[in-house]
Amino acid sequence: MARILITSALPYINGIKHLGNLVGSQLPADLYARYMRARGHEVMFICATDEHGTPAELAAAKAGEEVSAYCARMHAVQAELARGFGLSFDHFGRSSSPQNRDLTQHLAARLAKAGLIEQVSESQVYSPADGRFLPDRYITGTCPACGYENARGDQCENCTKQLDPTDLINPRSAISGATDLEVRATRHLFLRQSALRARLDAWIDSQQGWPVLTTSIAKKWLHDGDGLQDRGITRDLDWGIPVQFDGAPWEGMEDKVFYVWFDAPIEYIAATAEWAEAQGLSDAAWRRWWRTDAGADDVRYVQFMGKDNVPFHTLSFPATLIGANFDGTEPWKLVDYIKSFNYLNYDGGQFSTSQGRGVFMDQALEILPGDYWRWWLLSHAPESSDSEFTWENFQAGVNKDLADVLGNLVSRVTKFCRSKFGETVPEGGAPGAREAALRAALEGRLRAYERHMEAMEVRKSAAELRALWVLGNEYLQEAAPWAAFKNDPAQAAMQIRLALNLIRVYAVISQPFIPDAAARIMAALGSGDWSWPDDLAGALEVLPPGQGFMVPDVLFAKIGDEQRAEWAARFSGQRAEA
Ligand code: MF3
Ligand code: ZN
Repeated sequence: MARILITSALPYINGIKHLGNLVGSQLPADLYARYMRARGHEVMFICATDEHGTPAELAAAKAGEEVSAYCARMHAVQAELARGFGLSFDHFGRSSSPQNRDLTQHLAARLAKAGLIEQVSESQVYSPADGRFLPDRYITGTCPACGYENARGDQCENCTKQLDPTDLINPRSAISGATDLEVRATRHLFLRQSALRARLDAWIDSQQGWPVLTTSIAKKWLHDGDGLQDRGITRDLDWGIPVQFDGAPWEGMEDKVFYVWFDAPIEYIAATAEWAEAQGLSDAAWRRWWRTDAGADDVRYVQFMGKDNVPFHTLSFPATLIGANFDGTEPWKLVDYIKSFNYLNYDGGQFSTSQGRGVFMDQALEILPGDYWRWWLLSHAPESSDSEFTWENFQAGVNKDLADVLGNLVSRVTKFCRSKFGETVPEGGAPGAREAALRAALEGRLRAYERHMEAMEVRKSAAELRALWVLGNEYLQEAAPWAAFKNDPAQAAMQIRLALNLIRVYAVISQPFIPDAAARIMAALGSGDWSWPDDLAGALEVLPPGQGFMVPDVLFAKIGDEQRAEWAARFSGQRAEA
């Protein structure tokens, strides 16, 4: 049994995530967590809302709420949606927690002690009308690159160019619209990542078998241009973690907070501490996941994220943890494997939160239960390249894979049995050559499925699982128990007993993809045996003759053409203001 720590990139608090966000981090992380638990490993699966920064402040202002109240409300909304999608976090934390404040301040103190933090004087835009500095998205103006008039201080949405607030032409405050802005000097803390460049480079080189997408992005940031840049880790904002060091004030940093990208990944650790507290456990319970001097040396740590998050996870966060261990007294657990994803597009364009384009998590669950989405999204995960959601494709995936293959098998087998043998597993004769051939084929595919799941090859895993379901359908078609029943009822009974057992095995191995349907199959079969079919022959005899079962309700309903057209029309424009 291994110990596996799994984190999903933390969704921003500012609104409900779309399906592209979901498939790039939380959903595949959940697939892996469920699979590893099913194989008997000890899993710690952590996620949280990322609550600081200008997006949270602006969204709260727009909603007319205090930012802390807004965050509390949106955290509850996101937690509820996560439940709807069957995301099996051990803890869904909040980056605004006291644990994260303490740990962020502590790690900053360690970095300062290591000589890795310096104060830098910077020019920033100040608004006398608002009485404050205007960092990042608090300022809008005309993009110097493309002329777009509503570019934000951190980035132009039109041409995607990264900007500094001072780059904007005709800048104005995003809060008051004030245009009488000045440039004032302000001091900020910088993390001297450049001093850690060689360490980070060597650490990345020492990683075995990381995906190309992950290493190529990391290497680009390490070596392109002037190499790894030092980074400002503080901001002139109210909402965030106060810049203090182990609770003590830092001169010149009064009224400043840490930059959201500094404290967000630290929340992976802090959320595990939140978990321990919620469980009534001591600090040792979370430290054994995160400190190699407290038991984490045998932990395998895997992170899931979209490709835009890779630089922060391959460079900035490791820089924080490596730097904090400058004297060897705080050995923090570093990530062992980073699974990163490309983008999922929506019907010929991009999903977009700011433009409300695409299908959002709440809307998806209004239409269909979580399993339908889980299956389609995972079987089309944007792994080797970007992929695209279209309603035709979604309809085809649901109808063919879920309804025609798996759902149909379950329905035919249980209904046939009920009509000929009643609602108990029949006895029947001994299996023959066809059954032996089926077992051999299942065995080969099952082991391939396991290999793909271990390797986090999400699409290949889905394809293999579907192929396993197809084997059952083909067997039933060829064995044709409805024909056998006429001359040789014992033969038909044996075939149906095998098929019922096969359905149970399908529930067990499909559970990471479609947990609700799996649980419904198990309940209908009256079984609670979720053990993994390491011994397939044995697993196919778990349901003994005489055991009662019930015909389950339709597992997956087909999507009709009219319904598809209606949804396509409904989601063709922009999301109405939530
Ligand atoms: N909130 C960020 C995003 O949505 C991800 C933060 S991941 C973390 O892109 F680890 F840094 F928290
Ligand atoms: Zn632009």
